[in-house]
Formats: sequence, C-alpha cells, structure tokens
Amino acid sequence: GARKFFVGGNWKCNGTIKLVESLVETLNKGEIPDTDVVEVVVAPTAVHIPLVQSSLRKDFAIAAQNAWVKGSGAYTGELSAEILADLGLPWVILGHSERRSLIGESSELIADKTKYCLDKGLGVILCIGESLEEREAGKTFEVVAGQLAPVAGKISDWSKVVIAYEPVWAIGTGKVASPEQAQETHADIRGWLADKVSADVAASTRIIYGGSVSAGNSDTLATAADIDGFLVGGASLKPDFIKIINSAT
Ligand code: G3H
Repeated sequence: GARKFFVGGNWKCNGTIKLVESLVETLNKGEIPDTDVVEVVVAPTAVHIPLVQSSLRKDFAIAAQNAWVKGSGAYTGELSAEILADLGLPWVILGHSERRSLIGESSELIADKTKYCLDKGLGVILCIGESLEEREAGKTFEVVAGQLAPVAGKISDWSKVVIAYEPVWAIGTGKVASPEQAQETHADIRGWLADKVSADVAASTRIIYGGSVSAGNSDTLATAADIDGFLVGGASLKPDFIKIINSAT
C-alpha cells in the first residue's frame, strides 16, 4: 500500500553494555526486506544510544524513548529535542503508557512534547491506548480520541508522526489484541484522523500496533488492512525481532 511498514523496537529500561552489544550483533546479522518495504527503528536507553549509533547496521534507525517538553536549559535529568537532534536521532517515542501511568504524563503534555519535537525536526512515535477497564466499559474509541485531540489541536503537519496504538492491557502481558480487535481500533483511529484532520493525513499516517507482539502473532496481525507495523517491547530484545520485521512481507 501507500504506507511503508514500520517496525519499532522499544528496549525500555533494559540493557547492560554487554546485552546491547550482543543484541546489536544479532540484529546486524538478520535478514530483512529492503528499506523501501520496511522501516525499522530501535529505541535503546538514552545512555546506550551512542554505542548503538556506532555499531548498529545503517538501515536501522534509532529513537529516543522520551524527550523534554521544552528546549535545553535548567531541567535536571531531562533530554531536550535539541540534544536528541544534535545526536542525529531521527525519531523519539512520546506518550508511552508507562510514562502516562507511572510518571503521570497527561495527553496535553504529550501533545506539547509532540509539537516541540516535530518543530525541532524529529519524527514522533506517538503512543495511545486504553486500559482494560476502559475497554470493558466500551470507551476505547473515546479514550484514543481524547489522547489524539490535543495533538491535533497543536500540530498541522502529520508527515513525521507514526501513531502507536498500544492497548495497556496487552503491554507486557502476553495478552495480544486479536487481529480483529486491533483492526477495529486502527480503523477507528484512521476514521478519526479523516474526520478531525484530513483525508490525506488519514490515508498516509502509519498506525502501528503494540502490546505482546511476538514472532508467533506478527504475521497474522500484519495482514489487517489498517495495521501498518508494530511497536515491540519484550520481543525486540530477542532474535524474534528479525522475524517480526519480516512480517512486513
Ligand atoms: O512499546 C512497546 C510496548 O509497550 C509493547 O511492549 O511488546 O513487551 O508487550 P510488549
């Protein structure tokens, strides 16, 4: 289709230097489709980024897992978009559910971060998704629309945004969404974009799925019309990541 398949590996807060070196070695040996078929991005911890930059195959891009909402300055412990851009990083993950729930990041803050990072030239992997309680209450669409609305209010260029739909109940639980469940929500998100942003943005924006994606379920999920790739957590730390990338074809 018109949207290039996108596979992200979110390493989260994992890794020793040794593990990173061995993972990079594994990834460097992996056979995957051509870069015009699939775009691959991995997100190591911030301190491991330079090591990965110097050793990882050049057809894989690197993302940060978070960014500060403003520029460089007196913000102890934070990483600004300027710092990330200066390192040559093309991507940043924003709004991951672990940051929303554990750190308390709001959809407003995440929208401000999205705007700031896009303005500094970074691509943004924007994470959204409902909790189990919200799904069971029939509020999935309401929740994802509520997470997207502040972003749509602040940005107009969506060309460097990838939306990662990650139902919270599927993250790290082994309870993957069924292809039908994921497809339904992806189609709803695309419909929301068509309605609130534009038909062009709806047609061209990659909507990727995350939550217990594995080498065993990625092929089936990838066949769904509105699933344009994956954001992979646990399995991105294993050779399985190469198999998941190959579900692009
Ligand atoms: O960003 C990745 C997601 O949180 C998915 O994590 O594949 O370990 O369920 P998981």
